[in-house]
Amino acid sequence: MKARIYYFTGTGNSMRAARVIAERLGDTEIVSMRADPKEYSAMDCEIVGFIFPVYHWTMPEPAVSFVEKLEINPKAYVFTVAMPSFICGMACEKLAEILAEKGIRLNYGNIVNSVANYVIVYPPFPSPRLRVPQTEKKLKKIAEDVYLKRERDYPRASRFIKKKSEGFMTPYIELQKYADNPFTISKDCISCGLCSRVCPCHNIILKDGKPTYQHHCANCMACVVSCPKRAIGYEITGGDRKLLDASNSKTPLVKIMGLPPKRKMYKNPYITVNDLTKESELWPKEVKQEK
Ligand SMILES: Cc1cc2nc3c(=O)[nH]c(=O)nc-3n(C[C@H](O)[C@H](O)[C@H](O)COP(=O)(O)O)c2cc1C
Ligand code: SF4
Ligand code: SF4
Repeated sequence: MKARIYYFTGTGNSMRAARVIAERLGDTEIVSMRADPKEYSAMDCEIVGFIFPVYHWTMPEPAVSFVEKLEINPKAYVFTVAMPSFICGMACEKLAEILAEKGIRLNYGNIVNSVANYVIVYPPFPSPRLRVPQTEKKLKKIAEDVYLKRERDYPRASRFIKKKSEGFMTPYIELQKYADNPFTISKDCISCGLCSRVCPCHNIILKDGKPTYQHHCANCMACVVSCPKRAIGYEITGGDRKLLDASNSKTPLVKIMGLPPKRKMYKNPYITVNDLTKESELWPKEVKQEK
């Protein structure tokens, strides 16, 4: 195996990035960080990549624990691409730190600003129509860099972000433990199980046909945007802040933000819901068909 790219994704931006780079490299396997790291060790790879969204100015927790458990060829060329909407914060530094503990150096690090997908908190922005083409352009450039095994120092957080992070984000990350408590399932649910199959954290189990959340949620938004019936809602304080359908909300924040009565969803336009259920794929595509 020449290359393996590991990605964590909720709404497909990071999966799309993995595919664009894999297409340029050829002979590449892309693996979701929902898979078991022991089954997809990177000991046999010449090139190893890590691609993930940024959550709360850092690397998503499930990606941290995946990389911590992964074995990596110490001679491999190692790259990362973080996919924030605007603020990457400490995401790349966090990865570099985990790798350093394994004696692995990060050869290349870059950022691709993507559509912000936290749809239970805000509508997707900037407009996907404008941002996705910019994202694609930068991904192609990064794919070329990785193909040529270029060196690039990874981006670091500004002093301002580092200072604010402690007081501002740490308590918020603590709250993540309860991130799936406010999810609600409406009567429109048809028990299709898609929410469970797309979840990168194996956090949804269907009990008597009803999705139930297991309290290790990353708030990645995959279940929310994949439900064919828009049956997944998010309520805080007894229906006061029903963010997926804000028309009845009494919360001033929701009103001030001018949220639309029917919440807009976002999923990367190159990625299907079926794609989000995959554990791994080989690139180029034909290699898989020959197997
Ligand atoms: C829980 C959560 C927290 C987020 N925090 C940040 C952040 O701190 N900085 C930022 O720029 N974008 C943030 N975002 C936006 C995502 O990083 C961005 O939309 C990303 O491209 C989504 O990637 P995906 O489609 O691969 O899931 C956050 C999104 C979610 C769902
Ligand atoms: S994806 Fe939607 S309709 Fe299907 S089981 Fe989940 S909540 Fe129900
Ligand atoms: S439960 Fe939904 S939001 Fe939470 S990690 Fe799974 S797919 Fe993402």
